[in-house]
Amino acid sequence: MFWRFFSFVAFQFVGGILGWYATSFTQTSSSERVGTLVGVVLGGVLWFLLDTSRGARLLRWLRVGDASDAAMRTGLWGEVSDRVRRLLRSREQVARDSQQRLQDFLAAFQASPNGVVLLDARGQIEWFNQMAVAHFGFEPERDLLQHLGNLVRDPGFAAYFSGHDYRQELVMPGRQSTPTRPVKLSVHLHPYGEGRLLLISRDITALEQAEAMRRDFVANVSHEIRTPLTVLAGFVETLQTLELDQSERARYLALMAQQATRMQTLVSDLLTLSSLEGSPPPGVTDSVALPQLMAQLEQEGRALSAALSPTAKAAHHLVFDCLLAGDLVGAPNELHSAMSNLLSNAIRYMPDGGEIQVRMCRLPDGRAEFSVQDNGPGIAPEHLPRLTERFYRVDRSRSRDTGGTGLGLAIVKHVVQRHGAELKIDSTLGQGSTFRIIFPASRVNPLVVERSQGQSGGNRE
Ligand SMILES: Nc1ncnc2c1ncn2[C@@H]1O[C@H](COP(=O)(O)OP(=O)(O)O)[C@@H](O)[C@H]1O
Ligand SMILES: [Mg+2]
Repeated sequence: MFWRFFSFVAFQFVGGILGWYATSFTQTSSSERVGTLVGVVLGGVLWFLLDTSRGARLLRWLRVGDASDAAMRTGLWGEVSDRVRRLLRSREQVARDSQQRLQDFLAAFQASPNGVVLLDARGQIEWFNQMAVAHFGFEPERDLLQHLGNLVRDPGFAAYFSGHDYRQELVMPGRQSTPTRPVKLSVHLHPYGEGRLLLISRDITALEQAEAMRRDFVANVSHEIRTPLTVLAGFVETLQTLELDQSERARYLALMAQQATRMQTLVSDLLTLSSLEGSPPPGVTDSVALPQLMAQLEQEGRALSAALSPTAKAAHHLVFDCLLAGDLVGAPNELHSAMSNLLSNAIRYMPDGGEIQVRMCRLPDGRAEFSVQDNGPGIAPEHLPRLTERFYRVDRSRSRDTGGTGLGLAIVKHVVQRHGAELKIDSTLGQGSTFRIIFPASRVNPLVVERSQGQSGGNRE
């Protein structure tokens, strides 16, 4: 301020001096005084003009609003322009920060696994993320600022949206839902701000399917247990109410024992399944020696065949070939369970006297293949894709008669998956079936000695 006043006085002083100097030649003191006065006034006017032009420059700069540089650096206007520039810079920084924060929020919404739609107070769409595009089929250019009710036409949703009671979520069919492949969306509206709405949508198809599977599973288990239980209860009642002779009693008790065994097998298969589902995948430290495993399978297979066949002549013709003399990396009890399930199926579903070939060999690409081939009844192609489902049986009564639970191949599938292996089923109705488990090369012990097929002979040596 001092310099402003000083420059004003200085301009007037210099103007006065110049005015006095210009009139000093006239030699009259009155004209010298007038000249000095005019000089002072002109000095003041010149200062005013210069000052006003600097003010105008500042105004021009303010109109452009470029915060990167000040309009001028000196004097009062310089000071004003510098402060305005700093103010502008800090405002710009605040605006940039807010913009960045908004972008971060939107990016977080975008990354959400749920569909997110922001609606204004009139129900028009302000913003939505990619997941909402997948759920509702919105298009960014076309659908922004459209009323949500015009775009989501499901009658259930229309009633929910217009009902203004958003305490509960709504389950509605998804856009791509078809009768064969139903898609279920859970939609929930949350009011916020002044009359605005946040819509969250989730794809709950998998959840619903899991829930349906759980219901089916419980129903199946109950059914499987109820049947032998009913039979058992009937026998108990008979034994309690009727006077039976010794041989009849023995017959009834044998039938009761059969039903009890059936329930025990079912419970044991269920426990095997649940332990397979609940435990971590088998490590790489465990392994099983293949010749021993095959020997065990052969022993069990022959015993089962003998137990099921009334005469020695009717027993199955079993051929065991182990072309690998080494270890298979994996959980021994799981591997045994899967392989013996395939073998027992072949024996149990085969009419007497049929031929079953069990083989363990190495494929040309280094993988190991365990196969069970029979010339039994075979399976129609329409059943093949569902064979590994729990409780799925081609012939329910035959499966029950042979003591099957319908869980055998489900257990096999789990074991196969846990070992990174592959289950292949080839079957022709009336001709027979081949079940193969193909283990990755990494599961075959590298020290495995491969024997030539000629050496193996028929049965295991
Ligand atoms: N080797 C086979 N030959 C013919 N049918 C088979 C064979 N293996 C399995 N199946 C069919 O697949 C169904 C499912 O097998 P699985 O899961 O082991 O259940 P189950 O307890 O009935 O044996 C069986 O009920 C049977 O109909
Ligand atoms: Mg079975």
